[in-house]
Amino acid sequence: MDVKERIDTLSDELIELQRAYYVDGNSLKSDLEYDALFDELVKLEQEHPELMRSDSPTQRVGSDLTSDFPEVEHTIPVLSLDKAYSAQAVLDWMNKSEVKASGRLSFAEEEKIDGISMVLYYEDGVLARAVTRGNGHVGNDVTANIKTIHSVPLRLPEPINLAVRGEVYLPKADFERLKDKYPQIANPRNLAAGTVRRQKSSEAAEVPLDIFIYEGFWDEGDAPSDHIEILSRLKKLGFRINPHFALFSSSAEESRRRLEEAGLEGEGHAFDELGSYLEMVTERRQSLPYEIDGMVTKVCEMSVREAFGYTEHHPRWAIAYKFESPQAQTKVLDVTVQVGRTGRITPVAELEAVKLGGSTVKRATLHNQEYINTLELSIGDTVSVVKRGDVIPAVEEVIEKNEKGNGVYVIPPLCPSCGSVLVSRGAHLFCVNRSCPDQILGRISFFTGRDQMDMESIGPKAVQLLVENKLVEDIPDLYTCDYDRLVGVKGVGDKTIEQFKSAVKESLSRPFHTVLASLGIPEVGSKGAEILVKGGFDSIDKLLEASRNNDIEAFTRISQVGEQSALLIMNALNDPVMIERIEKLRAAGLQFVEVKEENNEEQIFSGQVWCVTGSFENFNPRGLAMKEVEKRGGRSVSSVTGKTTHLLVGKGGGSKKTQAEKLGVIIVTEEEFLELIGKKSETKSDKNDIQGELF
Ligand code: IVH
Repeated sequence: MDVKERIDTLSDELIELQRAYYVDGNSLKSDLEYDALFDELVKLEQEHPELMRSDSPTQRVGSDLTSDFPEVEHTIPVLSLDKAYSAQAVLDWMNKSEVKASGRLSFAEEEKIDGISMVLYYEDGVLARAVTRGNGHVGNDVTANIKTIHSVPLRLPEPINLAVRGEVYLPKADFERLKDKYPQIANPRNLAAGTVRRQKSSEAAEVPLDIFIYEGFWDEGDAPSDHIEILSRLKKLGFRINPHFALFSSSAEESRRRLEEAGLEGEGHAFDELGSYLEMVTERRQSLPYEIDGMVTKVCEMSVREAFGYTEHHPRWAIAYKFESPQAQTKVLDVTVQVGRTGRITPVAELEAVKLGGSTVKRATLHNQEYINTLELSIGDTVSVVKRGDVIPAVEEVIEKNEKGNGVYVIPPLCPSCGSVLVSRGAHLFCVNRSCPDQILGRISFFTGRDQMDMESIGPKAVQLLVENKLVEDIPDLYTCDYDRLVGVKGVGDKTIEQFKSAVKESLSRPFHTVLASLGIPEVGSKGAEILVKGGFDSIDKLLEASRNNDIEAFTRISQVGEQSALLIMNALNDPVMIERIEKLRAAGLQFVEVKEENNEEQIFSGQVWCVTGSFENFNPRGLAMKEVEKRGGRSVSSVTGKTTHLLVGKGGGSKKTQAEKLGVIIVTEEEFLELIGKKSETKSDKNDIQGELF
């Protein structure tokens, strides 16, 4: 066999092995055999670069040549999707579509992958270009990076011209594995987006992106008749299509038959099963190996798609059902500026009240000046606001500019609380006056807050009252001031005063790591404090000493602590104001040494992520319940996100519960929790005893 033939044979065989492995999930050969073939091909290609095929499987490793992603025009319109926020809205849209089409339709239900939209153009069966969506008409050519995705066919089995659309994503597990390497990247989607735009494809190849293809655009005359045919053809051509989809038609039997005939996995359903299907999908979402942010419903029939047509923005034959982030439109009445406990300045949009995800929203964060500039936001503009997870709403987009011609909002140069000149640090402005009244309020309220010392009766309003009445100026004053001086102050009764006193007394028993997390040291929140304590800093004196000696290694020895964090912590602990605060708190009797607890608990919550909401009979403060979780190997978090697995709900749990229900997080009551940790409440176990006798 000559070299060319050998290169051809090896290429063909490796392409098939890659396809089987990355598209179908089958290993046809052992790793060793695969590597041997691969290495042989690499060697032959190096010796005879002129014989390397354009679809060579060795290209998956990328190259060190840089690319600046030239702009290219799309030959298909690359549109977005219209949105609905409830299963009912999807059903309504389906009904309306049938009325519009004057007949029964069938609908495909697909997962909306939370990734990067990509168009792959094949010419004569060879991958010619992979192009980002861009503005829908022009995108960036990122072919070299997309070729590193093993499931992207570089050559099709037929020499056809074809454009396909798909979503590039990074599996959750790969993100977890890589996230320490990219600490500034918040989620898999952002890492996927960054990777698609790496200048060197050899670097892109280090991040194992994958792709699901969900639409195909064939030459005229060769067009499929419905979406099922599109998917089935794509599958036959070797594309990776998402097996999690369902076909809805007037009967489940018909749907199943059509899928079977097309050789597709997927589920066949009747229309009235849509509600329960969406429920099932919402529940399954947590356990998927990739992130989805909704479902896409598409009319299957191509003739109807054509008849419905498109708006500038989206096809009229498809709709996205978004799981979360409900959006609303409203007007920006004003922009105000907030000063946080660290002096950080946050501009806030004051909005015309609008209903959003079950609550009324009047304010939304604008993050910083850069964000305002990117939005090009002015007072008077109409904007869309979104709520993501448990966090405060944010302004996402300007929908319509104001008519008065107001310019883009600029944050004034002086602190709105104390009037000092603001200083810029990184992306944010800061007020650097420590005696700034808003910072004082923020600092003390942070200390007393739920996730810190949990002094329930001393919330931000109470702190303001204490500061205004000159009882408290800094955190330690909470422990030394004479609360009885509030007698006679308008609106303050004896009961309130007693509550303040008992909150303060109770807080003296908080363990050292909680005290540490409440001091407002940068990087040292509840997780950070625990890491430090577990890493050997089990007393404040050890921390103060390491900081005094500038012993950065004492910190970085702990694997989760980087140099940057260590410097910030040391800096804060060398600050005379902080040292004085700590000494006063020590004198007041707070815990500055960690008391070790024996832990023989079975690790029944290992791998689980718990959050807590509401108040409890047996766990007061409720942080005690999370301690029980942690003792048993679980992790506790302060807000419900896609990663949360369980929510412990007490009396009066509000938005967290709604969020958990939406995300399919397991909801656990206090009673159930007690049972799980083997601490059944009295009455319940009595009942069980009686049952035991009966059986
Ligand atoms: S269909 C004309 N199907 O969601 C076809 N899009 O918010 C329109 N997406 O730009 C797209 N999964 O990037 C479609 N199964 C799916 C999808 C999907 C994710 C993305 C796509 C689109 C965005 C719209």
